[in-house]
Amino acid sequence: MLGTSAKLSSSKVVNILDLRRIAEQRIPKVVFDYLDGGADAEVTLRENCSAFEKVLFRPRQAVAFGECDLAVRVLGQQLSFPAMLAPVGYSRLMHPGGEVAAARAAGEAGTGYILSTISGHKLENVKAATAGPAWYQLYLIGGREAAEGAIERARKAGFSALVITVDTAVAGLRERDPRNGMKELLSASLLAKIPFLPQVLSRPAWLSGFLLDGGLPKLENIVVPGQGPMPLMDVNAGLARSAVTWADLEWIRQSWNGPIVIKGILIADDARRAADEGAAAVVVSNHGGRQLDCVSPTIRALPEIVAALDDRVEVLLDGGVRRGSDIVKAIALGARAVLIGRAYAYGLAAAGLAGVRTALEILRTDVERTLRLLGCQTIAELDRSYVESPCEWQRQENFVSR
Ligand code: GLV
Repeated sequence: MLGTSAKLSSSKVVNILDLRRIAEQRIPKVVFDYLDGGADAEVTLRENCSAFEKVLFRPRQAVAFGECDLAVRVLGQQLSFPAMLAPVGYSRLMHPGGEVAAARAAGEAGTGYILSTISGHKLENVKAATAGPAWYQLYLIGGREAAEGAIERARKAGFSALVITVDTAVAGLRERDPRNGMKELLSASLLAKIPFLPQVLSRPAWLSGFLLDGGLPKLENIVVPGQGPMPLMDVNAGLARSAVTWADLEWIRQSWNGPIVIKGILIADDARRAADEGAAAVVVSNHGGRQLDCVSPTIRALPEIVAALDDRVEVLLDGGVRRGSDIVKAIALGARAVLIGRAYAYGLAAAGLAGVRTALEILRTDVERTLRLLGCQTIAELDRSYVESPCEWQRQENFVSR
């Protein structure tokens, strides 16, 4: 089920961008651009990364210590290092192993995996594949009954938190997708696909894996009663009918009866509202720059949310994390841990399970090296004194480069 896992040479893969390059060579443009691209002019997509580069460290020199401790607790669960795997839609198109391979690699690395509603593998199989914590991310794409069915299955399978994404009233316009024929390639019409087929035919290794895996997967965790699993091509229409509102949280909370994480928070008022509604954690997120473009990069939004919540609930962050030093910066600025999305999905697309393992190993060793160079022995000791003051940093001119 995991498909083939190509070997990755450690001289060719030094950082996450190397995995991105290999992924681009291995998978069709339409799938790569779905993973790599953002909404509209991709301003937020770029700024998520470049804002991290603008956060500068203040190291303590000439400090010696033994083992570094990278562990953190998130919602009471121990993670071996402070990065969980974010929900990534369509993972099974990137590699047949998809969500199962990613969850397995997360568990092996001692960290958590968050399964997207837009997944091609059954949630029960994903949970069974991982030794680590697993959370389920819920969209209401198939309507309330389908969501209640997924919640029930997730609870029975042992998922320990429910993640509600609140920034997806409709799908953002990822301009690369229509240009590449995403809709046509997902549709049932062979005629509509024809102009777009060369990008698929030029990736024979991916194509054979895709065909052996049975072709286009169904959305196994969106089961509308009487209709079976939803076809992939119905996702965007489903999203447009299914915006989550604060009012929905009440029935979701009753149906789930466990910890809820609100993902997609960018301003203090919404963070406070999430805490008032009983969230156990929030994720400062702009959906990896895939929804509303020209919003704050998440590392810039983080201090406002941390201050507003004042330790009432846990704060996580995603968006733009490509290096271990980014993880360290986010924690120094008040996040408990980060979620990584593209950073591991490039690995998945490049080489399946082996690629996700490589991505996690790169980030883990990066985090440890960064801590050692900062003169900070444990993640728990990281605080704002290790980075330049965000006030100074936010006053910098031209924060948003054009
Ligand atoms: C789904 O959540 C996506 O960003 O494509």
